Amino acid sequence: MSEMEFAPRCVGLSSGKPTEPCCIVVFGAAGDLSRRELIPALYDLACQSLLPEPFTIVGFSRDNWDDQAFRERMRRAVADERSFDPKHWERFAPHLHYVTGNFDAPPEGDYALLRDKLQSLQRRHGIPDNVLFHLATPPDFFCGIVNRLDAAGLATSDHGWRRLVIEKPFGTDERSARDLDRKILEVFKEDQTYRIDHFLGKETVQNLLVVRFANPSFEPIWNRNYVDHVQITVAEDIGIGTRAGFYEKTGVVRDMVQNHLLQLLCMTAIEPPVRYDGAGLRDETAKVMQAIRPLDVRKDAVRGQYGPGHMDGKAVPGYRAEKNVASDSNTATFAALRIMIDNWRWAGVPFYLRTGKRLARKVTEVAIHFKPTPHLMFPIEQDSSSGNVLAFRLQPEEGIMQTFVAKQPGPGLCLEPVTMNFRYASAFGIEQLPSAYSWLLHDAMGGDQTLFARADWIYRAWQIVEPVIAQWTSEVAPDFPNYTAGSWGPLAADGLLRADKRAWKSL
Ligand code: BG6
Repeated sequence: MSEMEFAPRCVGLSSGKPTEPCCIVVFGAAGDLSRRELIPALYDLACQSLLPEPFTIVGFSRDNWDDQAFRERMRRAVADERSFDPKHWERFAPHLHYVTGNFDAPPEGDYALLRDKLQSLQRRHGIPDNVLFHLATPPDFFCGIVNRLDAAGLATSDHGWRRLVIEKPFGTDERSARDLDRKILEVFKEDQTYRIDHFLGKETVQNLLVVRFANPSFEPIWNRNYVDHVQITVAEDIGIGTRAGFYEKTGVVRDMVQNHLLQLLCMTAIEPPVRYDGAGLRDETAKVMQAIRPLDVRKDAVRGQYGPGHMDGKAVPGYRAEKNVASDSNTATFAALRIMIDNWRWAGVPFYLRTGKRLARKVTEVAIHFKPTPHLMFPIEQDSSSGNVLAFRLQPEEGIMQTFVAKQPGPGLCLEPVTMNFRYASAFGIEQLPSAYSWLLHDAMGGDQTLFARADWIYRAWQIVEPVIAQWTSEVAPDFPNYTAGSWGPLAADGLLRADKRAWKSL
């Protein structure tokens, strides 16, 4: 290796190796999240020899299955979601077990069955008494499950650890999030509680930190002197599918903005942490959240709801025509926000956030738009959109893109913007990146809370979005549906940037 090359270096408590032997209990194992994300993520870890040995997964759900039925269903789910290797599956499947149970059953009933199953698996395979409980259930069950785990004697152990992974949304506002925490903290401590946001497990989100803090050339320009504005786009082409029950109550702000988009904003705006660990990273993201200026909802926020349209040449229904959605629903499926961060680094630099269902295509991107050059010696006009753009593409085709101006080949001086592309798949020769859930579950098994939201972050996130939710709930949107499925959202979202003489741009 020459002087200029680097060997890969891994950090993090649990990076690169299997964690301590343990059991994972998945509440809601028969549900959508478990099928689409959790079990495929654990299978991915198995394929990379990153699961501990011995190890076991116990699914707990209402469906009346046994171990065999659970394995068979999960085999089909994994084959649908990932590139499937029957040899890996044969080695992984025996780790899967199942208990039929109701989340709200009395502790001495189904929860006692779960306890017996865990104990017998631990004895049979020599697994120490380390248990990670993953609540992949509707949020209404979180408290009840925690209480029953406690009552059934499952929440503590003299010989091992207990950890609790909780899915979003964590509460529906600040008050309910605090309430939920109070109840959880009667049973588990904060350092046992892992509030999961799967966006934090995405490779490119972590790469935002690596690019900025492991390369000396970015940090000096990462501030108000050079950055004009930041655009964060999480566009989805899918509609709400079969999730109307959840979505009608939740809407886009609770589903996407309060968690995923604000996390992306924090990862972009964060000050350099002293160390890459739970305290370092989470202290700094909390400071970003503290610096966010309260939103003036009328000026800084735009809502939308999709109407019927065409996608991939097929007609798709509008939101109000989706199954189990009210025909006069006021639920927003699109949001765009202008967020200002009142601190030394970002004063005057707007962060524009947008997310929505049934948009033109699936793209998740953080784009840093730099200011135009201060003096252009070429006789060419430039405006605020002439600056370089550095875009972190989270999906699809994870990577980083940088635009800059180059001279077109030829006799005259003709300037043209070009794009330099770094793609994970080609740079690292990986066709399918492991899912965000793989890394987060691996971290939780390893006791690493760095990429999990701390309670104070969650409360502040609710404080930031609550005025938007309150106004959008109390005031019926007279123009809904206001964007066509397959478009880029309502015209008012363009207006939000146009008012600042800017425009949305996805690379
Ligand atoms: C989930 C939301 O948290 O994130 C969904 O509940 C959304 O509505 C999903 O579709 C998007 O995640 P990803 O990883 O597909 O971008």
